[in-house]
Amino acid sequence: MKFNHEIIEKNIGLLGIFTVIAISFGGLVQITPLLFAKDTTEPVEGLKPYNALEIEGRDIYVREGCYNCHSQMIRPLRAETERYGHYSVAGESVWDHPFQWGSKRTGPDLARVGGRYSDKWHEVHLINPRDVVPQSNMPAYPWLADNRLDGKLTGNKMQILSNFHPDHNLYTEEEIAGAQAAVEGKTELEALIAYLQSLGHALK
Ligand code: HEC
Repeated sequence: MKFNHEIIEKNIGLLGIFTVIAISFGGLVQITPLLFAKDTTEPVEGLKPYNALEIEGRDIYVREGCYNCHSQMIRPLRAETERYGHYSVAGESVWDHPFQWGSKRTGPDLARVGGRYSDKWHEVHLINPRDVVPQSNMPAYPWLADNRLDGKLTGNKMQILSNFHPDHNLYTEEEIAGAQAAVEGKTELEALIAYLQSLGHALK
């Protein structure tokens, strides 16, 4: 039997399969090198793993859905870098599972919010944003000041994070063993602020 295009073009199943293969090549050519490029899978120099309190704060950030209004991804455009600082690079998010890049910005990008305000400012702002930014439409999160952490799972969370990165000694055994004591009794507000203050220091 002569093999020519007609066979493929007149058989919808075959045409479908070969179309998918052809398109996959384009995707693979773009994606595969990224998986092996060190600067997309390795932490940038000086990227610190989250400590016990910051890990709990990060979970509260996710639980409260802060990502619905805040991205953590500064695009490499002049307008963004003038406002927020150095554009985000992949190596800054390697400890994040899942990452919080997002794209919806009802509020400002938070990738480099660490150190931009005092802890006290965040405290007042999170309890009632209108107290510091009168025109703000960000919701208030007053319960964060009342809820306290028990820290029962904090050590496990640190262990899981370090299991994801067996080549980097993220935590010592003492740090994991002491995780509960480090967070127990602290408020969710303290944890969330510790997380916010930790963001974005690796690149300036
Ligand atoms: C409905 C959208 C919305 C949600 C949800 C939201 N925010 Fe905001 N956020 C805003 C807006 C709008 C602003 C700008 C006005 C202001 O500063 O309050 C803002 C500002 C901020 C700022 C100041 C950033 C800067 O550079 O000035 C921080 C920090 C912040 N939000 C943290 C959070 C955290 C943490 C959460 C989750 C607990 C959260 N936001 C949830 C809308 C939101």
